[in-house]
Amino acid sequence: MITHKQRRTEKGFCFKHYYKWILCFSLTLYFLVSFFVDHDQEEDHPLSSSSSSRSNPLLTNPKPKLLASHAVFESKIHDSTLEFSPRRLNIKTDVFNNLKIYVYDLPSKFNADWLANERCSNHLFAAEVALHKALLSIEGDVRTKNPYEADFFFVPVYVSCNFSTINGFPAIGHARSLIKEAIGLVSAQYPFWNRTSGSDHVFIATHDFGSCFHTMEDRAIADGVPEILRNSIVLQTFGVTFKHPCQEVENVVIPPYISPESLHKTQKNIPVAKTKERDIWVFFRGKMEIRPKNISGRFYSKRIRTEIWRSYGGDRRFYLQRQRFTGYQSEIARSVFCLCPLGWAPWSPRLVESVVLGCVPVIIADGIRLPFPSAVRWSEISLTVAERDVEKLGEILEHVAATNLSVIQRNLENPSVRQALMYNVPPRDGDATWQIMEALSKKLNRSIRRSNAFI
Ligand SMILES: *[C@@H]1O[C@H](CO)[C@@H](O)[C@H](O)[C@H]1NC(C)=O
Ligand SMILES: *[C@@H]1O[C@H](CO)[C@@H](O)[C@H](O)[C@H]1NC(C)=O
Ligand SMILES: *[C@@H]1O[C@H](CO)[C@@H](O)[C@H](O)[C@H]1NC(C)=O
Ligand SMILES: *[C@@H]1O[C@H](CO)[C@@H](O)[C@H](O)[C@H]1NC(C)=O
Ligand SMILES: *[C@@H]1O[C@H](CO)[C@@H](O)[C@H](O)[C@H]1NC(C)=O
Repeated sequence: MITHKQRRTEKGFCFKHYYKWILCFSLTLYFLVSFFVDHDQEEDHPLSSSSSSRSNPLLTNPKPKLLASHAVFESKIHDSTLEFSPRRLNIKTDVFNNLKIYVYDLPSKFNADWLANERCSNHLFAAEVALHKALLSIEGDVRTKNPYEADFFFVPVYVSCNFSTINGFPAIGHARSLIKEAIGLVSAQYPFWNRTSGSDHVFIATHDFGSCFHTMEDRAIADGVPEILRNSIVLQTFGVTFKHPCQEVENVVIPPYISPESLHKTQKNIPVAKTKERDIWVFFRGKMEIRPKNISGRFYSKRIRTEIWRSYGGDRRFYLQRQRFTGYQSEIARSVFCLCPLGWAPWSPRLVESVVLGCVPVIIADGIRLPFPSAVRWSEISLTVAERDVEKLGEILEHVAATNLSVIQRNLENPSVRQALMYNVPPRDGDATWQIMEALSKKLNRSIRRSNAFI
């Protein structure tokens, strides 16, 4: 029940946030333009070559054809997912079986201090920041300020923002100790950790191998999920359908962070309205090694990307680019098919960008587990090509184009699938934060509050 008083405070809350938001937006826009859009998982990877310089946009980006009516397209986005007015979400606890989450207020060294670097809230691992902000922006309902009535406890530690001074990539070597320290703190100061050994505590792990907190798979596997986290729930971008040490913990696969503002901007600037008029047939931009390096027995993307380049580098139907380019989202918006091959890890930010910008994702990452399968019917909005079939990609895509492409494209237009992959602050109905709450509401048998109530 919402009383009048609550409504008033809600409005006040909204209003205050509106100003903060304007300020925040103007600041971030500048940085987004200069940095974020240029960001890319594999280029981000510590082991990728940092010499790959930005390409000359004039050479690599053929002028987009101005295709459809701007107005038509605009009204379409505004009606769907990417409108970003500071409208508040109306999350009602009854949707989530009266779920209550408590967010620990940790000392700023665990989270807020890192935000001094603007990149911290914008790069592709920034779901750790976005989710925290989103949860804090919920007043009442799902978020409780009374830990004694909470089902779950969110521990907000940002581990992805210690950017290397050498190459600018996030160094996560400190992640385990930072998390351990945070747990030490909450277990000493509050009674909740000890009573369940953390099984009702929720963490987020957004880098390549999720809760293993290492960027190289061998090391990640050898280290495994930190002992101290093994009882808890981890929200992570990493997920595979087979047994893997980096998911030996209760987990929820979540999408990587892509800034809603950057996507909104892309949509606004490149008015490719009708999918039929997309002028690039197959698109991929990213690291494709011509002579792949053997890094302690492993090859980047299991050499799949090398194979893509070898087989289709000279094929006019394929628009393949190896350099970074700030405007790559606009290329996605102009493409029919967008390749989403594995990097070091199976998941890719391209998946989210492709879906939101209406390009059919072609997933090449055997055994990948995709986020929120109950909200996003991936088989209806994407294509999956087995790693071993990558040299038949042209044939496979021709076949789809001749048969069910329009069905897939129509499914892809569903605003709710786009919404499910975006983190908004404050959260919105059906968006990524909402889906996480939904997933947590399915794990309420871990809640002490409930077991006490029902025994
Ligand atoms: C950040 O990373 C560097 C290099 O990996 C490490 O030496 C440093 O301790 C880390 N900083 C924090 C605050 O953990
Ligand atoms: C929780 O357990 C740890 C380790 O046994 C102990 O040091 C700590 O004081 C306990 N916390 C509380 C709130 O009792
Ligand atoms: C890659 O290097 C490892 C040693 O680090 C070696 O055992 C392996 O045979 C090499 N693989 C290939 C395909 O060259
Ligand atoms: C479209 O066709 C491809 C290949 O024939 C198939 O793998 C895929 O499941 C189909 N997708 C839909 C949504 O019908
Ligand atoms: C909660 O339920 C799931 C199945 O829905 C089960 O696998 C799990 O063991 C249960 N956990 C507890 C703590 O009872």
